[in-house]
Amino acid sequence: MSSPLWFGGDYNPEQWPEEVQAEDVELMRRAGVNLVTVGVFSWALLEPKEGEYRFEWLDRVLDRLADAGIGVALATPTASPPPWFGLAHPDAMPVTADGTRLTHGSRDTYDVCSPAYREASVRIARALAERYSGHPALRLWHVHNEYGTWSHSEHTAGAFRDWLRGRHVDLDRLNAAWTTAFWSQHYSEWEQIQPPRATQYLPNPAHVLDFRRFLSDAMLDHFLSQRDVLRAVRPDVPVTTNLAFGDWVPVDPWRWAEHLDLVAVDDYPDRTGQGGAEQTAFAADLARSWAERVPGPGRPWLLMEQAAGVTYTGEVTRPKAPGETARHSLAHVARGSRGAMFFQWRASRGGAEQWHSGMVPHAGPDSRIFREVCELGSVLPRVAEARDADVVADAALTWDPECWWALGSPSLPARGVDYLEAARQVHRVLWRSGRTVDMVRPDRDLPRVPLLVVPALYLLSDEAAERLARYTEDGGTLVVTFLSGAADPDGTVRTGGYPGALRDLLGVRVEEVHPLLPGDAVGVDLGSVREEVTLWSEHVHLAGAEAVAHYAGGPLDGLPAVTRRRHGAGEAWYLSARLSDRGLARLLAEAAGTGPFPEPGLEVVRRVDRDGAWVFVTNHDNRPRWIDPARFGLDAGARDLVSGVSAQGMTLPGGGVAVLRGHPVDN
Ligand code: GAL
Repeated sequence: MSSPLWFGGDYNPEQWPEEVQAEDVELMRRAGVNLVTVGVFSWALLEPKEGEYRFEWLDRVLDRLADAGIGVALATPTASPPPWFGLAHPDAMPVTADGTRLTHGSRDTYDVCSPAYREASVRIARALAERYSGHPALRLWHVHNEYGTWSHSEHTAGAFRDWLRGRHVDLDRLNAAWTTAFWSQHYSEWEQIQPPRATQYLPNPAHVLDFRRFLSDAMLDHFLSQRDVLRAVRPDVPVTTNLAFGDWVPVDPWRWAEHLDLVAVDDYPDRTGQGGAEQTAFAADLARSWAERVPGPGRPWLLMEQAAGVTYTGEVTRPKAPGETARHSLAHVARGSRGAMFFQWRASRGGAEQWHSGMVPHAGPDSRIFREVCELGSVLPRVAEARDADVVADAALTWDPECWWALGSPSLPARGVDYLEAARQVHRVLWRSGRTVDMVRPDRDLPRVPLLVVPALYLLSDEAAERLARYTEDGGTLVVTFLSGAADPDGTVRTGGYPGALRDLLGVRVEEVHPLLPGDAVGVDLGSVREEVTLWSEHVHLAGAEAVAHYAGGPLDGLPAVTRRRHGAGEAWYLSARLSDRGLARLLAEAAGTGPFPEPGLEVVRRVDRDGAWVFVTNHDNRPRWIDPARFGLDAGARDLVSGVSAQGMTLPGGGVAVLRGHPVDN
């Protein structure tokens, strides 16, 4: 029998009387829930006074779940220390960049470098481990919640200096890496270095970048101190933490994945409809790719949180369309998630997130949301047999959180340069052309897919540049966009012309950048089509490459905008301007030698293993679509695991998902 897919969510029973908890278990069984995350924010109830534990209530919760056959991801509650903690250890509260010491009253109020917080975290983790390591409900340890609180305290300052000593070894090296000769910032003693606190004008970008790198490592260290305690008592239970995604999160998931037993991610797309589907695919492709670095086989990862039935758009909370929750969940499962989890099981009545959604909404089980939850719970076991099969990607995209951080600097020539949007644009264009995308960071071996797109890879080491060259030499098509290679890993601009480290490979030399004002556009001639580009353009000289498209009008009129150079068995393309989605789609199709995907509106993800193939097909149209397994490389014996029908041609309703199980046929 195949291993199950996990299905459930954050479960906060302490917010409810015991009779509701009894109903919870009954409803969970009805919905097919098999895993709940317990205890994420329970520290104050578990340890109401320093060193005094109250586990009885949690015993009852876990026992009840175990009796019902429901597993538990047991959380360490360190994301929200109790009120007594902040009063006893005011120095463990975080300090903002402007020197304000925060107080308890919300959550995530901790200084990850404070010794008292570190000790208290390990203590509560050990107490939980000792009490529950043998509990029959335990399936997974869930450390903390969404690491991400910044602090600029004295504790942080000391730890930052230690970290800097490790990275730069001596002050001369640090002064050089940070270009401290500029604006009289030269450091003559380590003690002079502070976290990047509020300052008079623009901060030093290298200082800020190193601080984010340091925070990632400091938080990882906090995670590891708990992981080691948990592992010591139950080495067979996987340990994870749920990674948040946002520019405020100073966490490098590539590095973290090397220390996790399973990558867990939270995903809250802020768009509905196709935009939401594109964001979902992006998040899932990232998670799968990070999971490649998890030690051991299987790229394990899990969608740990998503919203049940609503989308937070920033402005309003909008209900998801009928079936959208299932589509998002199955899009994650298609890309390798070991299940579909939610925040949270039951919507809270009070507290700061009282209007956040739940699998059981305020309206109760007699609701569309709960019915859709039950429906999803019945589909997941039917598709679980695909759980361990490999996802077949046919294109790749570089993703480097450090570039995201570096390009967030106010020292760049254009405020509108947005690394996340640059990566998302490439991803959605590939998604719309029917491709499944692996994400890569070019400090490791590059993938064997025929197309690799490198958007705005601003920080680039010489070694990574060489790896990109090798990828092309070996026959890959490399498409690089503006700002890539311009700086070294310290963020120091490479002189002699952009794109710095990639000049030779791309066969171009960029003399000057010409960012465009918001609302301005300049023409680029793409053969039969004229494209209006926004945000960015450049004065490009050919130095071995040929021009594929030229600027039309404006100061760069007639100069190359897009170039191509043969290198070894492959090609290296350079896009010096910010193209529209349509223009980018055209160029990628030309570069990769393919036309648009033959089935627009259908999202297709292939999984394979020794026993066969599974093709996840999602119909993003409103109208029914006829699908034929042969179109997706499957034999005529294919069957849809969702509807159970033999799929020698089947109608997939608008918004529906099919998982075709069959055997690949050679084209
Ligand atoms: C997540 C967080 C949860 C909850 C949720 C609300 O980022 O981990 O605790 O706050 O958002 O949507």
